[in-house]
Order: sequence, then C-alpha cells, then structure tokens
Amino acid sequence: KDISLIGVPMDLGQNRRGVDMGPSAMRYAGVVERLEALHYELDDLGDIDISRPDRYRKDDGTNLRNLLEVAEANAKLAEVVDEVVREDKFPLVLGGDHSIAIGTLAGVAKHYQNLGVIWYDAHADLNTGETSPSGNIHGMPLAVSLGIGHEKLTGIGGYEPKIRPENIVIIGARSLDEGEKKLIREKGIKIYTMHEIDRLGMSTVMEETIHYLQKQTDGVHLSLDLDGLDPHDAPGVGTPVIGGLSYRESHLAMEMLAEANIVTSAEFVEVNPILDEKNKTASIAVGLMGSLFGEKLL
Ligand code: ARG
Ligand code: MN
Ligand code: MN
Ligand code: MN
Repeated sequence: KDISLIGVPMDLGQNRRGVDMGPSAMRYAGVVERLEALHYELDDLGDIDISRPDRYRKDDGTNLRNLLEVAEANAKLAEVVDEVVREDKFPLVLGGDHSIAIGTLAGVAKHYQNLGVIWYDAHADLNTGETSPSGNIHGMPLAVSLGIGHEKLTGIGGYEPKIRPENIVIIGARSLDEGEKKLIREKGIKIYTMHEIDRLGMSTVMEETIHYLQKQTDGVHLSLDLDGLDPHDAPGVGTPVIGGLSYRESHLAMEMLAEANIVTSAEFVEVNPILDEKNKTASIAVGLMGSLFGEKLL
C-alpha cells in the first residue's frame, strides 16, 4: 500500500516550544529514505499550515490553551487525512504535540465502522478542561475522540464520537490524573500500564492487544507518543516520565504489529528536537516506523 506522509508542526497543545519542529527532525532523520528502502511508494504531502497566535493563552472562560488555533489546525489536518484515506493510501502523520490526534482520528474514523486505537504513551490523554491540571490540549485528544470535551474539539469533522471506548488499548501508561483514572474505570478502557507490561512482558501484551483488536475492529490507528519510551532512549519530549518502555520493547511491539498487519494509519508525536540529544528521539521514531512497516520481515 502507498504511504502519504503529513507533517503537523503543532506546538499549541502544550507549553514547551520546539515540538513544532518534530516533522523536520524526523525528515532529517531520514523517514522518507527509510520507508522507500522498504519499497513503499511514499508521497510527502509537506506540512499542514498552523497559525501562530500572538500570544499563548487560555481561551476566555475555558481551561484550554490556544483552543481556537488548535481546533482550526486539527480541522485542516482532518480534511487532509480524510482525502488520503479516500485515495486508499496509508496516512502517516508526523507531530507536533499529541493534540493532533484529534484531527488525525477525525479524518480516519469516518471510514470505519469500528476503528481500533492503540495509544502508546506514558499518559492516557483522557483529560477535559474540567479535569486537566495543565489546560494543555495535548493531554486531551483521546477523551475528545470519545466525544468528551469542548464541542469546538469534539465536533471537528462534523461527527462524533470518532471512536468507542471498547476499541481502545492504552500501552505504557505510568502518569495518570485522577479524572483520567475515573474515565478509564467508567468506560472500561483496556489499559496496559507499566505494571502489567513488567509482569506479562511486551510479547504477551502485544499478542493480547492484537487478538483483542482483530476480533472487533475493521481498522487500527496507532498513536505513538515518543514519551511512551523511557526518557533514557527518547529524551527529546516535553513531558518525560521515568520508568518507560525500552527501545527493544518498542521495536518488538512495532514488529508484531507489522507481522499481524492490522495497522491502517499511524502518527508519531511529541518529538521535540530542542530538548533532544543530537536528534536521537527523531531517529528512534524513524527506526520504529521502519519496524512498523516491516523492516524485519524482509
Ligand atoms: N496528564 C498531563 C496533562 O493533562 C500530561 C499530558 C501529557 N500529554 C502528552 N501528550 N504528552 O497535562
Ligand atoms: Mn502511487
Ligand atoms: Mn505522553
Ligand atoms: Mn500523549
């Protein structure tokens, strides 16, 4: 299948500048060459145009930083992704902070009855304006995609919700806010925290995840936040949390997804080259894409 690459130089969903340079960092780390070497037909669509607010602030009466700009950018992203899927190409989205998952999912999910989502992340990103300790929208995209949150975000793409709680699998969680824990319990969302991953091993976690999603979904979106990895391996992220997934565990996860051949769209987010060490985190992201697209199968 052909791949369409979409860069989203977004940093408005959080408050550390630099993550808008993530797409450049991953291109510089050779994403195009890496995937073309696997004999994919790859079309780099360039970057989504993101407006610059004159100052970063919370919108009046909400606890949502840069709400209007984040909503506008995600609406644009959703249209581009929608078009890519309609052309029967694989959308590979490069972030940007994790708020861009709102737009990616809005573009993808309308093409599926039961889209599965793998949320590979130290966080669950299930906050709302009410539960968020930070007001940062990058901590909210999974909730928004469930139809929970501000209507300027949940309504993007003209339909909601995008996904159902039973089609989500969260992997790598180790920093959850109280409101997020409550939502996970209430909605019965499947989650492998670091505790379960340590007990079961990544191999079993991925076998279970693949089996679970294969049974009930007609497509799977992989949303990979680089802070799911341990900051030792992926230091260039804005919200690092110690005790994360290793480089090897993450490659194993990608290789097993490649083998199962279930992933139909993907995004790699939160790469911040300003906080990185010699582009290490972007290089790791590109390596993971290599495994996801079947490097080891060849
Ligand atoms: N839970 C915290 C918050 O809501 C951190 C979220 C981090 N999200 C991310 N995509 N890195 O602010
Ligand atoms: Mn082609
Ligand atoms: Mn995260
Ligand atoms: Mn995240």
